[in-house]
Amino acid sequence: MDITAVSTLEKRKEADLLVLPFWQEEKVAKPALACHDFESYFKFPVASGDFLGKEGHCLYLYTSEEKEKRIALLGLGKKKNFSEDVLRRSYAALVKSVRAHKSIKSLNLLLPEIEKTQENRVSQLICEGILLSNYSFDQLKEESLKEGKLPLLEKISFIGIDKATLDLCKKSEILITSVYWARDLVNQNADLKSPKILAEAAVEIAKEYPRVKTTILGKKELEKEKMGLLLAVNRGAAQDPALIIAEYNGDPSSKEKTAIIGKGIVFDTGGLNLKPTGSMETMKCDMSGGAAALGTVRAAAALGLKCNIVAVVPATENAMGPSSYKPGDVYRSHAGKTVEITNTDAEGRLVLADAISYTQMYLNPTRMIDLATLTGAIVVALGEEMSGLFCNNKKLTEALIAAGDKTEELLWHMPLYDKYKEKLKSPIADMKNSAGRPGGSITAALFLEAFVKEGMPWAHLDIAGTAYLEQPKGYNPTHATGVGIRLLIEFLSHE
Ligand code: BES
Ligand code: MN
Ligand code: ZN
Repeated sequence: MDITAVSTLEKRKEADLLVLPFWQEEKVAKPALACHDFESYFKFPVASGDFLGKEGHCLYLYTSEEKEKRIALLGLGKKKNFSEDVLRRSYAALVKSVRAHKSIKSLNLLLPEIEKTQENRVSQLICEGILLSNYSFDQLKEESLKEGKLPLLEKISFIGIDKATLDLCKKSEILITSVYWARDLVNQNADLKSPKILAEAAVEIAKEYPRVKTTILGKKELEKEKMGLLLAVNRGAAQDPALIIAEYNGDPSSKEKTAIIGKGIVFDTGGLNLKPTGSMETMKCDMSGGAAALGTVRAAAALGLKCNIVAVVPATENAMGPSSYKPGDVYRSHAGKTVEITNTDAEGRLVLADAISYTQMYLNPTRMIDLATLTGAIVVALGEEMSGLFCNNKKLTEALIAAGDKTEELLWHMPLYDKYKEKLKSPIADMKNSAGRPGGSITAALFLEAFVKEGMPWAHLDIAGTAYLEQPKGYNPTHATGVGIRLLIEFLSHE
């Protein structure tokens, strides 16, 4: 996207559309900025009640202006209901409507004047709303069938912002490019993002950004390392597993290092405990945590953040076949603990447990955050707009929740309730991997916690509800959302 700024209305360049934001007042719309120059255009639609300023509503007017032949009145909803996310959502609604008009490719934007929210934040939020919704995944569509493809907006120009504010918008763009990168991976066919291909994608990041180094463990190395749980999940798969490690060293003077561990199940059939029809169709999303972990490293490197992070992604398919791991069998983890497999569909916690153990043994993290589409239970509990946060450290809990509030990737604090550890006891092994439906997302988190060393600050984000949407919503398109990357970059920027 070409993002520019001009200092005054007079200096603006030609564009396909000029955007004027409005509030919804008592039954009428009211300009959210001083825009007397265009009053003759919007006077009637506003006075007549044709345009009320409801959140996300757009009214197109055709003008005889030199620089734009169209004006869009954009509703921001009621002023008393204002929140930062209203700006993202309203401008996302604008983009959705604009993209359906195939002839609109460029916008001139006059900014709403909002008390308490600084001009630079307003611009950044608008930019985020526009960029997050200016995305579609068209790689699997037939080239000649242009019908099904919506054109992308190519250019936006802010009127009346300074260079520092424009730079902030450009930073948002760099960040959101990594969100696109993660969405593309998640939306891809499962077989086109095998562990090997995911590893290659990580190596590509390292080629582009010299401060990123990758290490890939293949099946042989995993066997040598005795990563018995990752190998067990991989048994039914046609493709070998991988442990993908991408390290970004952005602050060599610091010993702090955040490990970001992402579930990398490239497709989850459930294994021998096969998922039924209706539950399997979205399961290419099961590497969303891994995509977010690698996407965060990519974004941090692209932004040159002053921090050290290491992304760790245990990658495999959870497939069904003659060699699949079996319910009732016991496997030894990398950490040494043995696990009775009571359900082969509880595979995420198995691969994560080995990754957590490996990370602590070799990568010297000072704290760990894992992201995983881990349980259907979290979707039941929190729906599609909140991820579950499980954390053993108060400061980390607060910082992550604050970051999520800022980026609107909301986190809800869930309990690591000690007594439920009982449920994971096995008569023939040190633990079992699944404990039935009650408190399903809690017992999954407790399973992971058993592999975290005493004293290590650790957070687990269950993103099963938020990573992949069957319907587009606000600035999230259909399917992959890229959840977690903006949140973690926000978190890492303040530590
Ligand atoms: N990948 C699934 C969880 C999931 C569900 C992700 C819905 C996205 C949307 C996970 O591996 C799984 O199958 N979990 C089981 C655990 C159970 C067998 C203990 C579940 O949630 O049913
Ligand atoms: Mn599963
Ligand atoms: Zn899974």
